[in-house]
Amino acid sequence: MTVRQYQKKEALLKVSNVSLRYDCLVLRDISFEIDDIIREGVTQGQIVSLIGRSGIGKTCLFRILAGLIKPTTGTVLIDHDQHPVRAGDVGVVYQNYILFNHRTIYDNLRISLERSQTPPGGSIDAVIKEYAAEFSLTEHLKKYPQQLSGGQRQRVSIIQQVLNGNRFVLLDEPFSGLDAIMVDKVKQLLVKIANMHEDNTFVIVSHNIDHSLAISDSAFIIAKEEGKEGAVVKESINLIDMGFAWDPDVIRQQEFIDFCASIKDKI
Ligand SMILES: Nc1ncnc2c1ncn2[C@@H]1O[C@H](COP(=O)(O)OP(=O)(O)OP(=O)(O)O)[C@@H](O)[C@H]1O
Ligand SMILES: [Mg+2]
Repeated sequence: MTVRQYQKKEALLKVSNVSLRYDCLVLRDISFEIDDIIREGVTQGQIVSLIGRSGIGKTCLFRILAGLIKPTTGTVLIDHDQHPVRAGDVGVVYQNYILFNHRTIYDNLRISLERSQTPPGGSIDAVIKEYAAEFSLTEHLKKYPQQLSGGQRQRVSIIQQVLNGNRFVLLDEPFSGLDAIMVDKVKQLLVKIANMHEDNTFVIVSHNIDHSLAISDSAFIIAKEEGKEGAVVKESINLIDMGFAWDPDVIRQQEFIDFCASIKDKI
């Protein structure tokens, strides 16, 4: 366990008193903030997890954070200028991922890279081939999305969103439907891209506690309070102060495993 030096500067995303009501109350008075993490000598992005059980309201909150639906009450402000979030401000990897179905996998990735303000080094063709090889997609580049398996489409969708240069990327259940090796690769990819720019902020919405927390610097537990309607932020976790953040091997540490088990009891 290593406790690291860092500072938190201004808010990059601020959720205030968000509630959402359909037939019944889904979300109740959700507030949290994601701050810019500053570490001397390191380009440090932010990875934050929103953890909660199936049906608790994670995807609803995801849609609100992405500006896709309006909350019944409350606000979501993003970026250094703290403007209200609008659809299109953030990259989104949906639980049911969407690709351009009439374009090949190669073209889906090419379009994202061409739009990127901060493409990874190398020619677009070289970057596509590098990522395709890394994520076992090389032989599928000429195919169309409907010709891929669910897990293959999901990998393309994740690569597409993280490479398109959006500073904010929301990922809804990014680990579901992937095998263990691909889960590790996706985690490594998220950490690598998050740390390519100081403002990069990835928000993972998931019920997979271990994998999400292993790459996060902070997390919020979304759960219901006994006898009350609507999910709330039941707990905020600072994984940096706990010594779990920024450690690629944390998932194998007993202390971390025990901590994840204790979270399971709370959701
Ligand atoms: N458009 C809608 N109209 C009415 N109720 C809805 C609507 N969308 C979601 N809900 C309800 O809100 C609750 C939360 O749904 P949500 O999809 O956010 O859950 P989740 O936490 O993402 O679950 P999972 O982990 O299974 O994906 C559910 O009870 C769902 O039925
Ligand atoms: Mg969901």
